[in-house]
Amino acid sequence: MTRATPGAAPESALQRPRDWWRDAVVYQVYPRSFADSDGDGMGDIPGLIGRLDYLADLGVDAVWISPFYSSPLHDGGYDVADYRSIDSRLGSLTDVDDLIAQAHARGMRVIMDIVPNHSSSEHPWFQEALTAGPGSAAWDRYVIREGRGEDHEEPPNNWRSVFHGRGWSRMPDAEGNPTGYWYLHLFDTTQPDLNWENPEVHEEFRDILRFWFDRGIDGFRIDVAHGLVKEAGLPDFDHPEAGSGLPGFDGDEQAPEPMFDSDHAHAPYWDQDGVHDIYREWRAVADEYDPPRVFCGETWVPNPERLARYQRPDELHTSFNFSYLEAGWDAEAMRSSIDATIANHATVGAPPTWVLSNHDVVRHRTRLAPITDGAADLERGLSRARAATLFTLGLPGSLYLYQGEELGLHEVSDLPDEARQDPAWHRSGGTDGRRDGCRVPIPWSGAAPSFGFNDTGASWLPMPATWAGLSVAEESGVDGSTLEMYRAALRIRREEAALGEGPLEWLNAPEGVLAYRRPAAEDVIVVLNLGDAPVRLPAAWGTDVLMGSGDAIAVLDDDGEEIVVIGGEISVWLRG
Ligand code: NOJ
Repeated sequence: MTRATPGAAPESALQRPRDWWRDAVVYQVYPRSFADSDGDGMGDIPGLIGRLDYLADLGVDAVWISPFYSSPLHDGGYDVADYRSIDSRLGSLTDVDDLIAQAHARGMRVIMDIVPNHSSSEHPWFQEALTAGPGSAAWDRYVIREGRGEDHEEPPNNWRSVFHGRGWSRMPDAEGNPTGYWYLHLFDTTQPDLNWENPEVHEEFRDILRFWFDRGIDGFRIDVAHGLVKEAGLPDFDHPEAGSGLPGFDGDEQAPEPMFDSDHAHAPYWDQDGVHDIYREWRAVADEYDPPRVFCGETWVPNPERLARYQRPDELHTSFNFSYLEAGWDAEAMRSSIDATIANHATVGAPPTWVLSNHDVVRHRTRLAPITDGAADLERGLSRARAATLFTLGLPGSLYLYQGEELGLHEVSDLPDEARQDPAWHRSGGTDGRRDGCRVPIPWSGAAPSFGFNDTGASWLPMPATWAGLSVAEESGVDGSTLEMYRAALRIRREEAALGEGPLEWLNAPEGVLAYRRPAAEDVIVVLNLGDAPVRLPAAWGTDVLMGSGDAIAVLDDDGEEIVVIGGEISVWLRG
């Protein structure tokens, strides 16, 4: 059956081929921090609608919006109390309908975030479980087990929460006293894990998908897509001693349980084979629609080979490729992640994705910055971030940008403790959980305290005074600004060079330089100089510089031939 959707964008209006997602540039909006229309200090959907022209002008193909469902916001909305309604602080269903229509009118797709691993403890299902008991239908929707020990005072197994501490909390009885039963929460205590062994959970989520697809949503990013199914019997896990699983947070005294790293490849709650059955069901739902709806999984898996399994033809369309994000400023790690990702995705006919920043990791301007005298050198961090972005934008596949990276925003590392809201911060006693630093509202214009985020100056996280110089208004029209670099790169990628899908061939490059050719894409050569000294490029690469993240000049070499010299920590695109 094919379902026509009143709010859906007709393909012709969007002027893109049917498989738009194969090479799309998707812009992530963290709605609380994007644009605030009512001045309460929290961004909202009407605020986002008011900025759609900015996104269309930037040149992105789609917008992925982090959750805006009704939620107590204990984990920034990744704790959903009602999957079919909007948090009143962020807007209304009518606003979302308007958002979809207005984005489509500008040729942009809209991707929502779905959170199927856990609900909020304020979800009616969990509220019902609190007054039910063992053997009830309400309990069977969650992962609830009897505790160990004589009085069941020990959790059912030793699993830890990603946000620190035990992965289990006791179910209370009707009077609120602890029982001998425990519920699983791989994240915060307010995020009980759903039981994907229960057909009712499957049915409910298929229905939620249809609810939003019917409204015209183009696809979903799937939260913790690798975590829904737990190993049968819930066996103990031999937890490795690990660093933080959240890139950029290494060195914490008490590391949280990583979302994923190679030491956790065999965790009995990540990347279990059974998750693939769920995505086959979901794919069938997405394919009922015209145009078919799409999925992108948040999949922290041990290697590109395991990642590709999620993109088999009857499963997800794409997934985040975190191996590339974790490669850092390291030529070998970047190249091997690119090679393995492209090769493994080719086995399932899926396009790779690339991402450098999101709402869970340190912004890449800070993460890639060299450390000088114990502090991140943010000037060089900016050069590296711009270069890494330009290099990444030349890769085949689709790309995710995180709001504010186009302005060159850095991590806000000095937020006062009392402002911090990341649940991992509280669960670790303030030693970890610094994800708030990448979630600070973004600056739009002016010198007033919230820099155009709203008119009142209110802001749920304080914004650094220096961001006045990094606002959209400050950077617009300024030659060489980070914003103008992104605008130019997206335009050339889409219109002039037709980068996106197609083969990639590595070129022999000078020491410390990565270079590849995109033969099907107007024969573009993409170069990244990871060293801090200028480098002379081979004469065979020509001198036709399409664009660069910094200085590139043509000079004569010793043989009198014209060559290009690029500065340190810079990327350029050449027409080969
Ligand atoms: C991944 C999300 O990106 C993160 O922000 C959230 O805390 C966890 N999943 C739990 O939902």
